[in-house]
Order: sequence, then structure tokens, then C-alpha cells
Amino acid sequence: MTEKQPHWLPDITHRPGPRYRAIAAALQDDIGSGALPIGAKLPTHRDLAWRLGVTVGTVTRAYAEAERSGLIGGEVGRGTFVRDPRPAEAPVDNTGIIDLSVNALAQHPNEERLRQALLGLASRNDLSGLMHYPPVNGSARHRQAGAAWIAQTTGLTVDPALVLPTAGGQNAMHLALAAITRPGDSLLVEQLSYPAVKPLAGLLDLRLVPVAMDDGGLLPDALEQAARAHGAHALYCMPRLHNPTTVTQGPDRRQAVMAVCRQAGIRVVEDDVYGFLADDPGPPPLAALDPERVLFLTSLSKNLMPGLRTGFLLCPPPLMDRMRTLLRATLLGVNPLGAELSAEFILSGAAMESAIQRRALVADRQAQARRLLPGAASDPACPHLWLPLPEPWRREDFARALLSRGVRVTPADAFAVARGDTPHAVRVCIGGVERVEVLEHGLRILANLLSEPAAMGESFV
Ligand SMILES: Cc1ncc(COP(=O)(O)O)c(C=O)c1O
Repeated sequence: MTEKQPHWLPDITHRPGPRYRAIAAALQDDIGSGALPIGAKLPTHRDLAWRLGVTVGTVTRAYAEAERSGLIGGEVGRGTFVRDPRPAEAPVDNTGIIDLSVNALAQHPNEERLRQALLGLASRNDLSGLMHYPPVNGSARHRQAGAAWIAQTTGLTVDPALVLPTAGGQNAMHLALAAITRPGDSLLVEQLSYPAVKPLAGLLDLRLVPVAMDDGGLLPDALEQAARAHGAHALYCMPRLHNPTTVTQGPDRRQAVMAVCRQAGIRVVEDDVYGFLADDPGPPPLAALDPERVLFLTSLSKNLMPGLRTGFLLCPPPLMDRMRTLLRATLLGVNPLGAELSAEFILSGAAMESAIQRRALVADRQAQARRLLPGAASDPACPHLWLPLPEPWRREDFARALLSRGVRVTPADAFAVARGDTPHAVRVCIGGVERVEVLEHGLRILANLLSEPAAMGESFV
């Protein structure tokens, strides 16, 4: 770090509220505007307090607030400096958080691909054609790209006319659930599920009904009972590389689940956003077992980059009319520029090249994580692990204790669909941290904490 600006003196006279907040806000603004560059040294607490006419405690509080937000950091014996917020360069010290709570994959391999694709796009002479309103169900080329991506990642040959480009997996979930439910309906979901299904159910006015799982995934008997007890006709599930438990359902389980769905008249939304990470396609997707009943969704977010906002939804023919109405009422077609970039990535083979790199990255990191966390449920293709905690750890206490040591994970509560019976476990994401040595460091902190006696919860009197 360089000592570029030791005499920072903000004007806080016009800022409302407590003085420490005013100083913290001025810090944030000056760092945001570049007036205080990365590495700039800040005045000592005493010096700034004297020059602003406030107490030393006020400056200490302001700096502490900025430090909590990750804007600045202290170095023993040297002073306080503006930190580099970019995760790749984040220092692994007691001021930097190692975030193992986000299921994103490190971005590096695709920056160059994006640059080349953008240059290619910019030099085309049909650009204005891309800027009209697209067909609501996507252009033929974008649907064809979606069908190709589904075929490359599942082995399933599908009719491009049934593939809808969407604004990411999340939008595909919304469209699929809106197509198969009515307000007030019950929606069956695995008892631990992707957290964003909860706000989506709230938006669509659906009652979430958890269905028990074992280490082979969704339990067909429990599905049948839950459907009967709640009169439910819709299921959202992740048969491959389940988030958060990592489970991939075997072929028999899939057959049994679909047999229940057929018998009970249940339509299924099959979420496969992590499926591309599996080396071989594995058992046929639910959509292959019953194409009239299953809406299959995938996305490029975890493979290429989430900012592309590209997903694909494979829609059964009987639902196509309703889907077009939904698309017309909401999305009015995906952004053609983004869709074109995605199509280029898929049809040129770049998306699959990236997937192969992603698989290698995940497999290496899984091997590293399993060495340190042998008790975790994992899969060599999964970007996260599911870690049951030994007694007497409680999930929230563990996550809090770990965060106080600079590592963030997600406790099971985030994934639990109903109260009660939530396991004492945490999800540990291994793909998002850019540098492998940072991941290693975070996992070691985690493993060390696991081996210590559990901390007492905060309120015990
Ligand atoms: C299981 C699952 N489905 C869907 C999504 C959303 O995908 P996208 O980022 O493409 O919207 C995520 C994102 O984390 C996810 O984990």
C-alpha cells in the first residue's frame, strides 16, 4: 500500500445526523469518487478529531463503521488505509471476509471470451436488426442456441420451438411457476430448497409445502402424501446437484418421483442450473421421462457469467399458449444483444469449453475441500458442500462464530422451506473465491472451528 493522502479533511458541516455517521459517509463518498484512492493513508484518529473539532471516540466509531463495510482497514503499527474492494486482491487478514456463501464461479476464464465476443458483435453489419423488439418467445437462433445448450448438458434432443430464452434461471422459474399455478395453490418443494423460491412463492401467492428428502433426494412416498394432504398439483425440484444438499437423484428415484407425479396430476419445474458441471449427462432428466408434464430450466449464469442474464426454459407444448401470454405480459422478450452473445458462446463451442474449465476448477476445489472437511456431503461436480455440524453446534451459532473469524457460510435456515426439523448444517460454496489459496485459508479456519468446543449461544440467561 502506498501512502498517498495522509491529510484527508472532509467537510462534514452540511451532513446531517450523528458526527461519526457524517464522517463515515464522507469517507464512503470520497472513496467512491476516487478522491481517496485505494491505498491512501487516513489521518490518525487523534489528528482527524483535532482538525474536525470532534472527540477521538467519534473518529474511532466512524473508522470502525467504514471498516465493517470493507472500505478501509487497519495495519498494526502503520495506520489505516483505503482498501481495495476487489475480491481477487482482498487481503486475507482479520479485516477481509472470505465469502463462501455465494454460489457463483470465479470469473477469470471468461473475460477474454467476452471481449472477443463483443468485438465480433460490434463488427457485424446487422446490428440494428438486433435492436428491434424480439419475438416474445425469442428469435429462432436464440431458441436454437438454447436447444443446443440443453442437448450439450443433458444429452436430450429437444425441439427449439419449445425452448424459450429467459432473463436468467430466476426468470425461468418465475415463468414456469406462474404457468402451472394459480394464486392460493400449494407448491411442493424439497424440504431444503433454493432460497429464492420463497419470495417467488410469496409473489405468486403460493403456499410452500416441504417434501421430505433422504440422501437419494426427494422421497416419492412423502411426495405422494404431501400432494394428497394439500391438494397440490405443482412441484419445483432440483434432481441434479441439488442446492444445498449436493444430491443427484439416481434413475430409479427419478422414475418413482415421476410415477407419483403422473398419478397425482402434478406438473414439475425441473431446475438444472448446475447440471452443466456434471461430466457425463447422468440419468435422464425428468423432462425426458415425461415431456408433457415437466418444465425444464437451465441458465448460463454459473458457467459463463451471471450478468449475461441468460436462461432457457423448455416448455411442454400444451403450456405454450399460456407461456406466450405470460411473456407478453411481463418480459416482452429477452434483451437481444445479451441473447446474441449467449448464442454465439453456445454455438461456437465457447460455452462448452468454459464448462469443461469450470468442471476442472470445481473438481480440484472439491478435492481440496473434502480433505479438510471429510464429514461434509459433496459431489466432485458440485460448487458447494453441505456440512452437517457435530453436536453441540447450532447452525446459527456456528455461522456467527465463523463470521467473527472472517469466513461467511450459509446456515440451513436459508434453505428450509418450513419451520422445524431444520438440520444443523451449513452450505459452503467453493467456487466463488478467486484465489485457491484464499479458499484453502477459509476452509482451514472452518475446519479449525469445527474441531473446537462449540461456543455458547449469546443469550443463555
Ligand atoms: C438452484 C438455482 N436456480 C436458479 C438460480 C438462478 O439462476 P440465475 O442466476 O441464472 O438467475 C440459482 C442461482 O443461484 C440457483 O442456485
